[in-house]
Amino acid sequence: MSTLSTSSASNNELDIRGLGKRYTHAQAKSGELQVLEGIDLHVPAGRFVSIVGASGCGKSTLLRLILGLDSQYEGQILLGGQAIAGTGRERGIVFQDHRLFPWLTVAQNIAVGLRNAPFTAKEKTELVAEHVALVGLTGFERSWPHQISGGMAQRVAIARGLVNRPSVLLLDEPFGALDALTRSRLQNELQRIWQKEKITMLLVTHDVEEAVFLGDRVVVMQPSPGRIRRIVDVDLPHPRNRSDPAFIALRDDVLSDFLDFDSDRAPLAAQPVGAADTGQPWRLQLAW
Ligand SMILES: Nc1ncnc2c1ncn2[C@@H]1O[C@H](COP(=O)(O)OP(=O)(O)OP(=O)(O)O)[C@@H](O)[C@H]1O
Ligand SMILES: [Mg+2]
Repeated sequence: MSTLSTSSASNNELDIRGLGKRYTHAQAKSGELQVLEGIDLHVPAGRFVSIVGASGCGKSTLLRLILGLDSQYEGQILLGGQAIAGTGRERGIVFQDHRLFPWLTVAQNIAVGLRNAPFTAKEKTELVAEHVALVGLTGFERSWPHQISGGMAQRVAIARGLVNRPSVLLLDEPFGALDALTRSRLQNELQRIWQKEKITMLLVTHDVEEAVFLGDRVVVMQPSPGRIRRIVDVDLPHPRNRSDPAFIALRDDVLSDFLDFDSDRAPLAAQPVGAADTGQPWRLQLAW
């Protein structure tokens, strides 16, 4: 990869201490909704952490706070020992929908990630070319978003998130909208990129198998308010074999957290549509 200046220092550990987040909520008695509470998470530099949890338990909120989009929170978010202040080049993000600009080509969309980066035009061109290659899109630089598949568009989004050479890449259900085959291919791709780039990755996913396949650790969150239920270490070598009994045992162990949830504790927002109609317990309604 490039020898251009990079923010990926080896001591860029992420340290989240006592993180809490409340939103104004007219329908709540207190006028506020406690979305996150007491989140403590230490992520050494270069680790891959997966985050799973029921819908509405605050996963996206957590990533938004780490990205620096919202500075109204309790607790601390430290990167390399420094409190984060707003957004920064050292933190990139990839969303579920690729959010590509339809009027820009693949290369131009990736270059958007470099808009405020302190590189010369030549360096930016080099970085874009390297990242096009990194995500396997060489030959598609001049294609428009409507000319590429959903999986390819998501690769562009990953390249755009990485082109600034962040030390932390946040991924919010990046493969959630893709078919199973493309999703599985991109999981392998993401793993290869992570091993090559040696940056910290935080992946939010609804797919427990994906979480265990990619993560060094799986953080299981629970709702009302969103907090960490437990952290599972995945002590299996990469690349992982999904049919390995040890892999299956870990996956089922994490899944059991969701099956164990007490339906009485599930907030309305976290209940799947139709749960009330069927009269079935919430735990049986989760579609993974
Ligand atoms: N800007 C906002 N204002 C008020 N409430 C919000 C805002 N953003 C999120 N919330 C609330 O915060 C809670 C957590 O939302 P969040 O999007 O973080 O959940 P999530 O775990 O990412 O869910 P999902 O798995 O469905 O993506 C929800 O109850 C949501 O309604
Ligand atoms: Mg979300």
